[in-house]
Amino acid sequence: MLLAIETSCDDTCAAVLDGARIRSNVISSQAAAHAGFGGVVPEVAARHHLELVEPVVEAALGEAGVALEEIDAVAATAGPGLIGALLVGISTAKAIAAARRLPLIPVDHIQGHVAANFLEPEPLEPPFLCLIASGGHTMLAAVRDHAGHEVLGQTLDDAAGEAFDKSARLLGLGYPGGPAVQHEAEEGDAEAFEMPVAMARNPGLDFSFSGLKTAVLYRCRELGAEGVAERRADLAASFQAAVVEQLVTKLKRALKQGDWEAVALGGGVAANGPLREAVAEICEERGVRLKLVPISLCTDNAAMIGSAARFAPRIEYPDYLGYDAFATGEARAVAH
Ligand code: KG4
Ligand code: ZN
Repeated sequence: MLLAIETSCDDTCAAVLDGARIRSNVISSQAAAHAGFGGVVPEVAARHHLELVEPVVEAALGEAGVALEEIDAVAATAGPGLIGALLVGISTAKAIAAARRLPLIPVDHIQGHVAANFLEPEPLEPPFLCLIASGGHTMLAAVRDHAGHEVLGQTLDDAAGEAFDKSARLLGLGYPGGPAVQHEAEEGDAEAFEMPVAMARNPGLDFSFSGLKTAVLYRCRELGAEGVAERRADLAASFQAAVVEQLVTKLKRALKQGDWEAVALGGGVAANGPLREAVAEICEERGVRLKLVPISLCTDNAAMIGSAARFAPRIEYPDYLGYDAFATGEARAVAH
């Protein structure tokens, strides 16, 4: 039985896994604590993780009906993410593991989003093409085995989720922006405003979302506060359609370039209804299998970290005592 902890951003998460089966998956969102700031404040996030991580781990064990003595490895997100936030999770995992001389499994957060697709029920077996779009990352990845992924293309500036959050702020919608924009867009006309779909003519598989965010900013300036209030739904719908269009254009291109039989989505933006529908349509047209995990497994959670941990190297006690979290880049070797 595996205990997994995820604290890379603003959700304090713990899960218990029995192989690929989720026994519990507890998420304590800090969204309310950050909403007043219109985005995540790293120091506030770290402090909240510190307060929440113990009760969240206890809740995960309790919901799973599993005693700490039955856990035989502890996994935690090691990066990338907010360093103060990551340190809380990795230190907690180290403490729990060291107390019982258990192995520690540091996990890459992005691989976690990929590995959400390996969970029961109906786990997806590699190879597959994975579109990952979250608050911090946007990429197309080739998943050829359970242990990792190869980045085929990624955003050159903002992440898709970041564009949702920043645009939501400009439109006077709440944080996190994605669900708020999606909700507002339901009442709007996606063709009301012309928004740039970046990179469409660029031959590669990279993305760019900062121009779109700037376009929303200019439209808001032109309209003024009252105009924005009047046209909010149309602005949200037009913006969302441009994000979906760019993601889907690159996904189609990647499908053309490779011989993929399956596609999966990951990351918070994969919870977006119109994106899920657009991808489903493309996959149906091309006869490609589509795996869509439930929305609760798209946004940050610890079950996906536990899932990735099953295929990641474990570090035996006491070698991990000097292990550090990493804010950017990839997992480093263990420092003794
Ligand atoms: O994967 P995630 O929970 O955290 C990161 O690793 O960043 O993704 C969070 C991002 C936020 O930017 C949020 O606005 C976006 O995912 N998001 C959505 C939706 N739900 C969450 N974006 C669009 N539509 C949604 N329904
Ligand atoms: Zn994430």
